[in-house]
Amino acid sequence: MIDLKETPSARQDLDNYETENIFHSWSYQPSQSPLRVVSAKGVRFTTEEGRERLDFSSCFVSHNIGHQDPRVVDAICEQAKTLTSFAPSLSNKPRALLGKMLADITPGDLSRSFISLGGTEANEAAVKICHQYTGRRKMLARYRAYHGGTATAMTLSSGDARGWAQVLGGTELVTVPQPYCYRCMFGHQYPECELQCIKYIDEVIELEGGSEKVAGIIFEPVTGANGIIVPPPEYFPRLREVCDKWGVLMIADEVMSGFGRTGRWFAMDHWDVVPDIMTLAKGLTCGYLPLGATIARKHIGDRFKEQFFAHGATYAGHALACAAALAVIPIYQEDNLIENSANMGHYLLEKAEELKEKHPCVGDVRGLGLFVGLELVKNKKTRESIMPLDAKIRAGTNPKLEVAKKLGELGMMAMAANPGNVIAMAPPLIITKDEIDEGIAIMDQALKVADSFTEND
Ligand SMILES: Cc1ncc(COP(=O)(O)O)c(C=O)c1O
Repeated sequence: MIDLKETPSARQDLDNYETENIFHSWSYQPSQSPLRVVSAKGVRFTTEEGRERLDFSSCFVSHNIGHQDPRVVDAICEQAKTLTSFAPSLSNKPRALLGKMLADITPGDLSRSFISLGGTEANEAAVKICHQYTGRRKMLARYRAYHGGTATAMTLSSGDARGWAQVLGGTELVTVPQPYCYRCMFGHQYPECELQCIKYIDEVIELEGGSEKVAGIIFEPVTGANGIIVPPPEYFPRLREVCDKWGVLMIADEVMSGFGRTGRWFAMDHWDVVPDIMTLAKGLTCGYLPLGATIARKHIGDRFKEQFFAHGATYAGHALACAAALAVIPIYQEDNLIENSANMGHYLLEKAEELKEKHPCVGDVRGLGLFVGLELVKNKKTRESIMPLDAKIRAGTNPKLEVAKKLGELGMMAMAANPGNVIAMAPPLIITKDEIDEGIAIMDQALKVADSFTEND
């Protein structure tokens, strides 16, 4: 084993360890080490060469309260002194308090949580609860989704090319379209469409065996990695009606959209619809420690007083990570971050619209709260995408990666490594107007790279 006192840790050595000893997520393994981050504070991070950059992505939409908040760091240190974790079959105070806090802030009677270590695990648990509660096998998910990296979660992530390179499984899946109005799969226009996408789901459920066979449907209330897709206002109330008709459970995957990201505590709050199960991670602890939660409505949770709950993990309800969540969640309220997300989100969307007017590469702009996407096209009239759907899993570069590279050079990180042709801007919820102006000015520069790939006449 390496002796940390003896083993060289100069820049070049660390670069070598990165390229030879680490698997890097969702990519060809790099021949050069990525930039090394040494510190972060608020909305900025600093890399090894001493350069500070603006974080316009909240690290894949997780660091909602900003980096290195001393209130959270102190709470973690305090908890670490007494109990870091213990067997999940026994109680610990942070887990019990977190269960109650989540019941208080989530909509309706969502009240019983399974606490895990991240978003993927939260969704795995949600699907298992659906199967066990209904006794049915089939799950519905929507194209252009991402629900996590493991076999089941990736199976549910249809249309995300990252799944094409792995063996799927874990559940019997039926896929339905998104309410993606810019590229409606039915060729309709909203509102004349009368939500054909919901009628379609209703019919698919019937054809797939309805109340006999279909256990649940999983969705991101506002789609994140695959394109910042915001549904029309009637979408979720109508979906609730369809699901109630068939007894199909609704899983709202709020891993990205939760915790103030869209300007409300949870995105589902915008439509006053209570899902049967909600999954949470990212903004739950804002990356200070890993944590996920699967929270079920009361009658679903209560069922497992009589029925064996067939799920678990050694670190279910890890005390230290729960203590981090207990420090993070009150900060949203104390610092008015959800209000700030709504207000600054309006401003960010306005500024993004200006980018659309200015740049031939920006075909559409969409967003809710501090969750705003720029859809890149080759041609605004035809809406032809700037790159193929599978660009993410192909070797070499593509126009969006070129933009990401330019953003990095100019001093900013946005969400540009995600699949699809949308660059997402999702800064920490503490962002100010001046910082948004700074980020937009950088984005304005970087988009010129994508403009050079357009074919507008
Ligand atoms: C909507 C959604 N669900 C689930 C996940 C998986 O979460 P994790 O990476 O914490 O496993 C992600 C990750 O980006 C996500 O965006």
